[in-house]
Amino acid sequence: MHSIGVDIGGTKIAAGVVDEEGRIVASTRRVTPATDQDLIQSAVVDAVHELREDHEVAAVGIGAAGFVGADRRTIVFAANLAWRDAAIADDIEGRIDLPVVVENDANAAGWAEFRFGAAQDAADMLMLTVGTGLGGALVLDGRLVRGSGGFAGEVAHMNLVPEGQWCGCGRRGCLEQYTSGTALVRAARARAVSSEPLYAPLLKRAGGDASAIDGPMVTHAAQEGDEGALALLAELGHWLGYGAASLSAVLDPEIFVVGGGVSSAGDLLLDPARTAYASELVARGHRPLARFAVARTGNGAGMIGAADLARQDA
Ligand code: BGC
Ligand code: NA
Ligand code: ZN
Repeated sequence: MHSIGVDIGGTKIAAGVVDEEGRIVASTRRVTPATDQDLIQSAVVDAVHELREDHEVAAVGIGAAGFVGADRRTIVFAANLAWRDAAIADDIEGRIDLPVVVENDANAAGWAEFRFGAAQDAADMLMLTVGTGLGGALVLDGRLVRGSGGFAGEVAHMNLVPEGQWCGCGRRGCLEQYTSGTALVRAARARAVSSEPLYAPLLKRAGGDASAIDGPMVTHAAQEGDEGALALLAELGHWLGYGAASLSAVLDPEIFVVGGGVSSAGDLLLDPARTAYASELVARGHRPLARFAVARTGNGAGMIGAADLARQDA
């Protein structure tokens, strides 16, 4: 049976009909209405109605960037969005007669990679999504780990730097402040206006306006061999590997799947991560190193994973 997966992002809402093999057979999108929760829900309902005109589906799964309660109905808290105790599933179920579940965005993407992507052959994987925020998903022994409250896998908010950068969650030194698209752009802009010659080409690329620098610009520059951009991605990758080593100490996965917008940098991000990981891992030399792989399910990961998770209990 097909199901619908919805990915509520900061700029767009993507919705798709997904089959049992994880293929998106139809999709649509809406612009995300600013921060108004009712308007966001209406946009989701509207997209689901459109898809149902031509497709029969059993359930709807919605991925969102926040702390989703264990009952998979409520977004309890979000570090980078205005959601607070939002009863999304109840509200939306009341407007479409289908079962609805809510999932953390990275859990949905991680599940897609585990079922259909880079971790298909693994039993123990951790997914790290390096996008606006830093997302995490833990699949151990073939099961998505949710924790007691539903909030397991929030790797973004591991405190790695005492009294470090302020985070959207209201605390300081969280990993997300050192490895995410937001961290990349912040560092790139700050370096571009410094007098460090290494970053002068990046400023030039931005037409002399540091605020015009965005993540894809840094990645493109790095791909063309810009040393400053390469250094920025290497720093991000270093932090990623450093965080991964701590995660391995606790969870011992066989593979880290890296997704999110910044993962389009591929090995320019992953190689520095592998190096930092290998040098920080406890008992190194006496255990296998986990593999690092780029996510394979692409932009549709959130939709595919949310749809699959929704179908499983429908
Ligand atoms: C949030 C997570 C989310 C991640 C990626 C983090 O800041 O705490 O809930 O999965 O960003 O969007
Ligand atoms: Na997660
Ligand atoms: Zn935080």
